[in-house]
Amino acid sequence: MWSFANTLRYVAVLRISSLVAGLPAPQMSQFGENTGPVGGVNPPTPTVTAASGSLYGPSDLLGEVYPPAPVSGGDSAIVSDVTLVNGQEADSDLGLYLDFNGVEVPQPIRGDAGQTDPGPRTYEYEQLNPDHYAPPGTDDGDVPQAKWPLGLSHNRFGTGRQSGWARQQNENQLPAATAMAGVDMRLAPHAYRELHWHTANEWSLVLKGSVRLSSMNEEGQTFIDDLVAGDVWFFPAGIPHSIQALDQGVEFLLVFDDGSFSEDGTFLVSEMFLRNPKEVLSKNLQTPVSSFDNLPDDELYIFNGTPAPANISEQNVTSPYGALAPNDTYSYHWSQQQPYAVPGGTVKILDTTTFPISTDLCAALVTIQPGAMREMHWHLTSDEWNYFLRGSARITVYTAPSMSRTFDYTAGDVGYIPASNSHYIENTGTVDVVFLEVLNQPRFTDLSVAQWLALTPRQVVKDTLGLEREVLDRLPKEKTYLKVGARNLTALAGAPNGTAAYE
Ligand SMILES: *[C@@H]1O[C@H](CO)[C@@H](O)[C@H](O)[C@H]1NC(C)=O
Ligand SMILES: *[C@@H]1O[C@H](CO)[C@@H](O)[C@H](O)[C@H]1NC(C)=O
Ligand SMILES: *[C@@H]1O[C@H](CO)[C@@H](O)[C@H](O)[C@H]1NC(C)=O
Ligand SMILES: *[C@@H]1O[C@H](CO)[C@@H](O)[C@H](O)[C@H]1NC(C)=O
Ligand SMILES: *[C@@H]1O[C@H](CO)[C@@H](O)[C@H](O)[C@H]1NC(C)=O
Repeated sequence: MWSFANTLRYVAVLRISSLVAGLPAPQMSQFGENTGPVGGVNPPTPTVTAASGSLYGPSDLLGEVYPPAPVSGGDSAIVSDVTLVNGQEADSDLGLYLDFNGVEVPQPIRGDAGQTDPGPRTYEYEQLNPDHYAPPGTDDGDVPQAKWPLGLSHNRFGTGRQSGWARQQNENQLPAATAMAGVDMRLAPHAYRELHWHTANEWSLVLKGSVRLSSMNEEGQTFIDDLVAGDVWFFPAGIPHSIQALDQGVEFLLVFDDGSFSEDGTFLVSEMFLRNPKEVLSKNLQTPVSSFDNLPDDELYIFNGTPAPANISEQNVTSPYGALAPNDTYSYHWSQQQPYAVPGGTVKILDTTTFPISTDLCAALVTIQPGAMREMHWHLTSDEWNYFLRGSARITVYTAPSMSRTFDYTAGDVGYIPASNSHYIENTGTVDVVFLEVLNQPRFTDLSVAQWLALTPRQVVKDTLGLEREVLDRLPKEKTYLKVGARNLTALAGAPNGTAAYE
């Protein structure tokens, strides 16, 4: 346990050692690195105008050096001015959420575990990932990385002036994410994602603005629709489509049923025309070669376009084979679905029950109020790809044998949880969490831990977990999706025994 007496002792030692060193404070604090007297390295002086010093040191520095360094010498690794956040001294198995935003310099200490961190670091990572920096005592083993902030993805810009961009997460960023990959794409007003197709199925949620889609299937049946934020589309593998932003521009999230999918590897109509002999193009479209004088020089990818007519019917090309049948359509106006309200938030599900074409990607959009959480559960055979639209949350991924790791998420982060791995999503902030769970299967299913225990013979659970009958009798036998909880996530710290984390 970190004590005040320890702190005093360390402050005293520090005074002596900094007198010995007599060094000026490094001037890098605007970047938040811990380079001051509390620890860290002394950075080399960067303002050299002429070559000086030597690249290599003398050979007599090798091994034992006389006279030996004093035991208390060197740049001290002792950290003074340790401030712990509320809950940090509590038993580490409680695993309370630690809000490191409350301190300038977070420390990797939880209960009796850990030690101060004197080293070079960037505090913002630790503030965003408190459960990595000071893990709950219940975390154990080596669970594969389950978080990718899209803010760390390299953006690919469109062509032309400020037409848009796209950034992605696939197996390169998250090696465990083998079944699904994601893209966040932005189109300026009237800009296009050019006519294209790909080998994976594509599921999309519009995040902002509005967009016009058009497509045709292998039967020659046509599809055209306008979607707004909250709506969803699904394009089966190989089906070509165009996406054009309407007047307010658009941002959307794409999920593919292939972890190795790359947005840079799609089939583009511009490239198909550039990579075929003009003689063939001429014959194929039954038009003189000169018709192709205005082909673009290179792929267009994302590019600015002429405004789509406000009246969508003007762009509806009549096919002799008609339009896609309602059950085959590629869009679902999910924004207009009323969510299912439960204590702690809301849930809405979209799968083949109401959106038949989306045969292998389905989703739940979940809102979790402060203090509440998406209950502990797992998905039977599908991995889960998730995305945080709002708020901050944490997830503990438990996997066999006996390993678990807790990850923290904020808006714009992607999460990935392999099939059968148990997890919860706990709101760790003061605003609602909104997040998307995408599964690689036709129907959205999950197995609720609380419901399972409620529907298992009492004696079996008592013999196994030591849980009393009254605890189990209070569990609802219905799936609740969410569980409510105290908004103060550290209220259990130092609280008398018997205090609950809910209420
Ligand atoms: C497009 O035309 C088809 C008939 O070919 C019609 O069924 C469909 O509703 C039209 N779509 C729009 C958006 O006007
Ligand atoms: C939209 O365009 C269609 C086809 O051109 C036309 O029949 C219809 O009257 C237009 N609707 C409006 C509201 O202008
Ligand atoms: C569309 O799909 C639903 C659900 O599978 C089914 O009940 C309905 O009969 C289908 N409608 C048509 C026109 O095929
Ligand atoms: C949460 O509860 C703890 C323990 O009662 C208290 O010290 C802390 O100030 C509370 N935090 C907030 C934000 O109310
Ligand atoms: C509180 O819990 C601790 C640890 O489980 C236990 O040792 C202690 O006896 C409990 N105290 C009371 C008053 O129940």
